[in-house]
Amino acid sequence: MSKGRSSEADRYCYLQTELARLEHAYYVLDQPLVPDAEYDRLYRELLDLEQNHPDWITADSLSQRVGGTPLKVFNEVKHAVPMLSLNNAFEESELVSFDRRCREGLGLETVEYACELKFDGLAISLRYEGGVLIQAATRGDGASGEDVTANIRTIHSIPLRLTGKKIPDVLEVRGEVFMHRKDFERMNKHAATLGEKEFANPRNAAAGSLRQLDSKITAKRPLSFFAYGLGALEPANWLPKSHSQLLDLYLELGLPVCHERRVVSSVEGLQQFYQEIGAKRNQLPYEIDGVVYKVNLFKQQNTLGFVSRAPRFAIAHKYPAQEEITTVLDINVQVGRTGAITPVARLSPVIVGGVTVTNATLHNEDEVRRKDVRVGDTVVVRRAGDVIPEVVSVVLDRRPKNAKPFEIPSQCPICDSHIERLVDEAVARCSGGLFCAAQRKQALLHFAHRRAMDIEGLGDKIVDQLVDLNLVRTPADLYRLGFSALANLERMGDKSADNLIQSITQSKSTSLPRFIFGLGIRHVGESTAKDLAKHFGNMHALMDAQLDDLLTVNDVGPVVANSIISFMSESHNREVIEQLLASGIEFQVEERIAGVDLSGKTFVLTGTLPTMSRDQAKALLEAAGAKVAGSVSQKTSYVVAGTDAGSKLEKATELGISVLDEDALMKLLGR
Ligand code: IVH
Repeated sequence: MSKGRSSEADRYCYLQTELARLEHAYYVLDQPLVPDAEYDRLYRELLDLEQNHPDWITADSLSQRVGGTPLKVFNEVKHAVPMLSLNNAFEESELVSFDRRCREGLGLETVEYACELKFDGLAISLRYEGGVLIQAATRGDGASGEDVTANIRTIHSIPLRLTGKKIPDVLEVRGEVFMHRKDFERMNKHAATLGEKEFANPRNAAAGSLRQLDSKITAKRPLSFFAYGLGALEPANWLPKSHSQLLDLYLELGLPVCHERRVVSSVEGLQQFYQEIGAKRNQLPYEIDGVVYKVNLFKQQNTLGFVSRAPRFAIAHKYPAQEEITTVLDINVQVGRTGAITPVARLSPVIVGGVTVTNATLHNEDEVRRKDVRVGDTVVVRRAGDVIPEVVSVVLDRRPKNAKPFEIPSQCPICDSHIERLVDEAVARCSGGLFCAAQRKQALLHFAHRRAMDIEGLGDKIVDQLVDLNLVRTPADLYRLGFSALANLERMGDKSADNLIQSITQSKSTSLPRFIFGLGIRHVGESTAKDLAKHFGNMHALMDAQLDDLLTVNDVGPVVANSIISFMSESHNREVIEQLLASGIEFQVEERIAGVDLSGKTFVLTGTLPTMSRDQAKALLEAAGAKVAGSVSQKTSYVVAGTDAGSKLEKATELGISVLDEDALMKLLGR
């Protein structure tokens, strides 16, 4: 840029600094400073200036984050300081010997260790010269990797220019590129809707995105970065005394560093860190495969040195793997409440993430076809967090010769009714309705659900027996059950039989919305059940409702209305309802908070509230006549946000919707 600065040039410099500051707050600190619209305005202004002055654009301009011309190949980069790997420890004994080796090597009684997470992504080296990002390279074989600078520039949490007072002349920041679980899921969902390839896990997604020769594609992938190490450095005296201080300095330079870290000085301290992180591993927003312990003082790290390609001063303490290999013994289908057929792979038992897995869901017919899982196949099974284990992929070169593709059966395995798949639905369904024992069981469990008729103690083991012994066919049969029938069931004592009879009796005193919800009409969830109850006021009016009338109910469209009509036109459903009403079910009017009327208002709850659960807040709001919805839209009247509120809060700010905290909510409720 020319020396005699015009005010436009000053403005341009200001925009670069200001946008970098806003990006840092948003992507690194997770604390947005301004609404997205304001960011967008400043960004557009920057683009306009660049359009008028193309010669001002440098590689570190924030406008370059969108990616550039595709490459033919990645150039090779020789690492100034090799990128090594870590030795692994799986057991406590290996930790004890690691600590002993460090102490003996240093001739010390105790050694300080910096503990941090082992992120499951790709190692990257970022080279900053004079504070500007000039090159980024993958680890490769450790001695040289690939130049992925253009791709790395698209990652918003990686500063293109370092900030702070003490910027070294040359700094190679080592760290991990990875993908947040949420971003991964969103990206895969999007890929699925476009019919594009989905990634098996966040690590593969991160790797695949970084290997793109076209950085414009990488720019669309939600990648993140955490810094955890150091390569080349000039001047050498910039280096602080310890690893933990280095990471603190990184934060000052504007680099993202994970805050889950701690300095300890004993094996017990290491173990405690491992256990604490292990306990919340599944709740972390990204995947980790272990934790890493590093001797904290650099002087001591140098004394200990390296063995072959790994440091003696650091070790990775791994958690049980979340992916394993096993074989498919069989594939069959499960039948859900609405008859939905879910193919399930029966597996040769395998321990995944510390839990024995014998079944894994294959989701639906399309998924089975896409993954082409066959009986006899060797498959990769994955259990991440508390989610249902799933088959990720087939190890094709281990497929037995005679393995046949799996076909969804044409008859229901439980009731032999025809299995059908409607044109625009992903799932196949058993057409047997309540004739199908599997659907009957699910329907009974739904009827008894805490948010429906709330029959405590009526769990799946009991429902299985009641249906299999033909003691119960419909929800109405529950109210005819006698003590002896229940007491004779397996795993049921006199006391539990008594308790169950009591909770069945108590459930008769209910509310109309709970009853309607409990019937399990397709597409009628809790909130629609409430709207229907409010509109019709009693069960018979709903049973005889015509399409036109149903369509006037809040949030009821043709799909829901037709589903209700078809349910009510089945004579056996009407009979069951009549029997239930005759068994003495009574509808209490739901309590209303006196003096507060929030009817017509829609609330969305997000994040953790300081003193109450979201369920409690929901109950209070509904008692005041408000509606509580799951997602923010133009129709939302208020968003109630607690701590860790995420995208819903962002959306609310974007749409200019009023945001309340718990205190403000309580005021609104007159409490
Ligand atoms: S330090 C000389 N720290 O694990 C030691 N590595 O097996 C260099 N990794 O390639 C690595 N989180 O991709 C270090 N907090 C962390 C890490 C970490 C993940 C990965 C990295 C490296 C591999 C080492």
